[in-house]
Amino acid sequence: MELNQFFEDILTDKTLVSMVASNPRKKQNECKRINIKPVLIRNQYTLQFESLINNKAFHENLSVDEAAEKIIEDMRANFKNIYIKTQNHEYQCMVSKKGKLTCKKKEIEIASFSLSHDRKKDYIIPDNEKCDFLIELGVMDDNGKVYKKKYDKFRQINKFLEIVDGTIDYENINGSFKIIDFGCGKAYLTFGLYYYFHNILNKDVEIIGLDLKEDVIDFCNRTSENLGYENLEFIKGDIVDFDSRSDIDMIVTLHACNNATDAALVKAVKWNVDYILSVPCCQHEFFNKIDNACLAPMIEHGLIKERLSSMVTDTLRVLYLNNEGYEVKLVEFVAMEHTPKNIMIKGVKKGMDVNAAKMKYNKFKKFWNLDDLFIEKYHNEEIGNEY
Ligand SMILES: C[S@@+](CC[C@H](N)C(=O)[O-])C[C@H]1O[C@@H](n2cnc3c(N)ncnc32)[C@H](O)[C@@H]1O
Repeated sequence: MELNQFFEDILTDKTLVSMVASNPRKKQNECKRINIKPVLIRNQYTLQFESLINNKAFHENLSVDEAAEKIIEDMRANFKNIYIKTQNHEYQCMVSKKGKLTCKKKEIEIASFSLSHDRKKDYIIPDNEKCDFLIELGVMDDNGKVYKKKYDKFRQINKFLEIVDGTIDYENINGSFKIIDFGCGKAYLTFGLYYYFHNILNKDVEIIGLDLKEDVIDFCNRTSENLGYENLEFIKGDIVDFDSRSDIDMIVTLHACNNATDAALVKAVKWNVDYILSVPCCQHEFFNKIDNACLAPMIEHGLIKERLSSMVTDTLRVLYLNNEGYEVKLVEFVAMEHTPKNIMIKGVKKGMDVNAAKMKYNKFKKFWNLDDLFIEKYHNEEIGNEY
């Protein structure tokens, strides 16, 4: 297929719903993704480009001709993949260095579509467009409309995928990307991850969801089978006992209870995974351990102590990961009004200065009088006596 002609046809046809250019050709590309959507501005059909640079969005509104010129140039110079939705078709395309375009085309049906400029936020997986796993899991109806009572879940899945998108260096993925979701529960986010890698990015992915609950695992495996999602498998088991058969690229652990998060972090360190995304849940261990005479007034009241011990737990987890060579950022996962358990620990293996990190770690532990910690004992058991 001829690249210039393809984009000119798609854009002049005016049935475009959205385009996402991703997978930068060079690691040092400032712009990691471009989202394109049609909007009506003063009654003119216009293409809005949203470029994501350093996690900030920059907007540009272009005519059809200007947009065609820009996207052709961007695909030749900057991006390898583009995902396109029109009102009737979905295209997953790759553009080679030499400008050769290869596309997989599928028929789809968009339930309803509006060009209004103030359309609601653009989600990676949009509302009003059929998405198989969201229909199967009862988040959308058969026409692709998100149920009102499921909107928070829908938003959470999209927010999670935005974080994933801003974390992974796609350039350095070789072969199939392997993920384990520890404490996957009903696996909305695990299915979301699979859909994102497989359907949107067109990348090979293998995902395992692990959970203690047999009924949940049976449900997830049935759902995966119904959807025909290959290489998405659910296993019943405890994180502590789980051992991986192959190299893992990313560990996800979202709201796994208490020390299950610590066990997941230790496994990630043991397997030397590149990426860790972890949203802790209840943190009981430190509640009975933190102690500091100067901060006694904060420890006297159960409510404050509980929040404080959560923050101390998560800070120690950050320092633990720094110790093990991870650069860590904390991001808000969902808005505070939905749950206070909304801090995501985002770790990327970078080979940090572990000596400085170790000093910080020890000082912090001493300040809070922390000893005999699960994460340390488990680390020593699994990896060797470091703590
Ligand atoms: C609150 S749910 C979160 C589910 C999902 N990750 C999410 O965010 O929607 C926590 C899940 O972690 C599982 N879990 C807790 N401890 C675990 C452990 N040690 N090993 C495996 N799964 C565990 C529980 O069975 C439960 O399904």
